Amino acid sequence: MNKDRKLIIAGNWKMNKTVAEALDLVHGLKRELAGVKEVDLVVCPPFTALSEVSKVILDSTLRLGAQNMSDQPGGAYTGEISAMMLKEFSVRYVILGHSERRQYQRESDELVCRKALAAHAAALKPIVCIGETLAEREAGSTEQVLDAQLKGSLAGLSKDQMQESILAYEPVWAIGTGRNATAEQAQAAHAFIRRTLAAMFDETVARRTRIQYGGSVKPANARELMSQPDVDGALVGGASLELRSLTDIVKNSI
Ligand code: PGA
Repeated sequence: MNKDRKLIIAGNWKMNKTVAEALDLVHGLKRELAGVKEVDLVVCPPFTALSEVSKVILDSTLRLGAQNMSDQPGGAYTGEISAMMLKEFSVRYVILGHSERRQYQRESDELVCRKALAAHAAALKPIVCIGETLAEREAGSTEQVLDAQLKGSLAGLSKDQMQESILAYEPVWAIGTGRNATAEQAQAAHAFIRRTLAAMFDETVARRTRIQYGGSVKPANARELMSQPDVDGALVGGASLELRSLTDIVKNSI
């Protein structure tokens, strides 16, 4: 495989793990993946574990991500977390517009876009999630949906900001279902996303921006998915909660 983009694999722990459980997993990851240089590795614990996890990974190649943040810098926003608060724990990445937030919290492309701009203003790298539902795929509108999400969620980003962002293509029907997109389906969607980036920004931005695949990534399918020319890593949910499966995904991807 000869890609000039470095693979990036992120574990999205969602609303799982106490502080003690998070520390247990992250100590294991540090032990097992200490020597891995070929892949950028990111763990995204719940907010409540960021502080303790950040201390453990300080002297390792693991990087810290958050699962969400506010588009506002501060003020009367009960229950929200700002970019600067994340920065206090050495957070480098933040997942934005995950389909669960789009679905349950009604997050729109416009809000995701404001969050992405706020992340960049604080020098956090957003991992912007997009993806179609099963009904949209079956109706043949996958590309239309991706095009609208890309244009809506990335409007106003500069070229530099875009290539410092990560995109995650996560077909909603593949998330947590055990049914991953085939390598061909993933490659086709990623190639479409890259073409769209070229039209929105330019060829250089399109070539440099990393696009992760997410949705039922497992040790058994990681190698095939990661070897697709336009797949530059994975956003892993369920399989990132367990040491063995996450380390095997990383090792199988190299
Ligand atoms: P999954 O979740 O790996 O459990 O399918 C992926 C995600 O939601 O990012």
